[in-house]
Amino acid sequence: MSYQFILVEPRYEQHIALVQLNRPKELNALHLELMAEVRDALKSLDQDPEVRAIILTGNERAFAAGADIKQMAGKNAIDMLLIDQFSTWDTIKKIKKPIIAAVSGFALGGGNELVMHCDMVIASETAMFGQPEIKIGVMPGAGGTQRLTRNVGKVNAMEMVLTGKFINAQRAYELGLVNRVVPVELYLEEAVKLAREVVQLSPIAIKLAKEAVLKAYDSPLSEGLEFERKNFYMLFATEDQKEGMAAFVEKRAAEFKGR
Ligand code: CAA
Repeated sequence: MSYQFILVEPRYEQHIALVQLNRPKELNALHLELMAEVRDALKSLDQDPEVRAIILTGNERAFAAGADIKQMAGKNAIDMLLIDQFSTWDTIKKIKKPIIAAVSGFALGGGNELVMHCDMVIASETAMFGQPEIKIGVMPGAGGTQRLTRNVGKVNAMEMVLTGKFINAQRAYELGLVNRVVPVELYLEEAVKLAREVVQLSPIAIKLAKEAVLKAYDSPLSEGLEFERKNFYMLFATEDQKEGMAAFVEKRAAEFKGR
């Protein structure tokens, strides 16, 4: 597949794919065309048996400065309803392989919401996160009010959403929005290191574990626990469970196949 607004390297490293948002002049503003490409790339990598983890990144200045304001400015409510941009995001939400965001510079509005669609986040110390939609007379629309509140709690989410103020990488770390903060020259490398840890493990166990953790977002505890238990039992039907446990007993490294 060829893309105009993103760069995709399905074989960035063994089992690791890289997707880079690539509208640098516009600070990677997420217009509809770019988001459609992100959706298509992630879907295709999700189906690629060689890929076990995906890194999503921007550039040093911006991960993404939000939805494209210029593209939205003249639209009315019915235009927006018919464009139905968030169905693209619904597909991204369903990607089964782990996605690691490597964030430097601005992650604002839809940019921060895209970060929150990822499973783990490495931030450069220059990263800035925010939901500034309120400053242009609207509010977050790609899950910002919901995911941010679950991630950072009500009062912190309120402050970000109601003032539009940005927080820096260190504050994002304190609030639990990112896994760690590293010097700017290392953010991609650190994301790759994290991906390397994940791709050594059983891809099928990783997939079911990701699904179970995400279940905690939108189900009551009892339902989530039942879901977790079923996925746990299901893994005993895999060769990877036999291999993983045999390798432990035989004191050797396991070789996981994703079956
Ligand atoms: N949409 C369209 N274009 C954007 C953009 C956006 N979200 N963010 C930046 N750009 C463009 C600028 O218009 C500018 O283009 P020109 O050179 O053609 O004028 C270029 O990118 C560089 O930006 P700036 O000159 O503004 O750079 P700066 O360093 O002075 O400021 C910034 C950086 C603080 C991020 C500022 O660009 C900004 O505030 N951007 C908008 C952030 C925002 O409001 N995001 C939320 C969008 S709404 C949303 O995301 C809804 C949703 O929930 C899905």
